[in-house]
Amino acid sequence: MTLLETEAAWERLRPVRTEAGAGAAGLVRGPDGRWRWSEPASPEARLLADRYLPLCLAGPRLTIAQLGQSLDGFIATRTGDADYVTGEEDRRHLHRLRALADAVVVGAGTAVADDPQLTVRACAGPHPVRVVLDPHGRVPPDRRVFTDGSAPTLWVVGATGERRPAPPHGVEMLTLADPDAFAPRRLVRTLARRGLGRILVEGGGVTVSRFLHAGALHRLYVTVAPVLLGDGVPGLRFEGTPVMRDALRPPVRRSALGEDTLFELDLSTPRPRTPLDGQHRGTGEAGGEGEHAVDHGDGQPLARAQARGAEGPGGDALPGAPAAHVQRQRHGDQGEHQQGHQLGQRSV
Ligand SMILES: NC(=O)c1ccc[n+]([C@@H]2O[C@H](COP(=O)([O-])OP(=O)(O)OC[C@H]3O[C@@H](n4cnc5c(N)ncnc54)[C@H](OP(=O)(O)O)[C@@H]3O)[C@@H](O)[C@H]2O)c1
Repeated sequence: MTLLETEAAWERLRPVRTEAGAGAAGLVRGPDGRWRWSEPASPEARLLADRYLPLCLAGPRLTIAQLGQSLDGFIATRTGDADYVTGEEDRRHLHRLRALADAVVVGAGTAVADDPQLTVRACAGPHPVRVVLDPHGRVPPDRRVFTDGSAPTLWVVGATGERRPAPPHGVEMLTLADPDAFAPRRLVRTLARRGLGRILVEGGGVTVSRFLHAGALHRLYVTVAPVLLGDGVPGLRFEGTPVMRDALRPPVRRSALGEDTLFELDLSTPRPRTPLDGQHRGTGEAGGEGEHAVDHGDGQPLARAQARGAEGPGGDALPGAPAAHVQRQRHGDQGEHQQGHQLGQRSV
């Protein structure tokens, strides 16, 4: 019996953007909402369909983020070394996320510390446009994203950054003179107007935290490696809630990535209880922009992410698995890969 193997499965799956396209690629959706190959497939090929097809089908506006962290919550050592926090399988996962994105966004701290390439190398796929958020123009122009010419780069600077020397050839400098224009949901709209509607926020901790806090994310991938750093560059940090009862507990799906554990947090599924609802009624970028949507920049509470319910046009809610997670959770049915649960329901 010939099995559909990983590479062939990825090649078929990667360009899919519609359900009809999924069908043409040999995928069928089961009664549980999860996608499967209609032919015999290897375990990894099956996993690709389950994990990435919802992203393929999420529509032209999607903002996701990722972080790889230690068990004690750090994304790099105290000297900024992040080489590598998580293992090879997480790197492949990250490159797959890049291949599905129009743009990959990093903060100035990452561009300075890591000198990343931000291209797709660990799997097949096109390179996204590389976007560097550098309001103070502090990233040196010799960074690889500006010099290697392997993919287009958008260097987003503030008014101070404008006085920098001309950007290297092939690099576009976008000056946002208004500091409020750096608010994550406004950045998402700015990129979408440039045809970059599918965005991966790749790090570091400050940047991902700001997008999360602003309610600008549909989905967050956190990979936890079994390593303890004791000290280092923190991952997610935001103004927390005083009591556990009010903590952000989005639907989550867990899976093993080699030695590491991947937590896939669905930030676009409505939650049954929204503790701060009533105080903050705006819809986040990830939830569609209603008439009450007022962009207050980074000061928006996480309740935005929690309170999103009526999803706007453009495929804001990721189809398939996450909603099914919640449903199955309520019925106590944990399927083969369905290790997901709402964190608050764990026994202590
Ligand atoms: N393990 C992982 O997954 C991973 C991933 C990426 C990076 N890293 C590590 O993380 C470290 C860097 O992370 P970090 O948290 O220190 O910094 P960072 O998130 O890379 O960069 C933060 C800076 O980017 C700018 N910025 C980002 N979002 C902005 C926004 N919405 N508006 C305005 N400015 C914005 C600001 O620059 P200004 O300070 O100039 O205002 C901000 O201080 C490095 O050591 C790197 O190795 C790890």
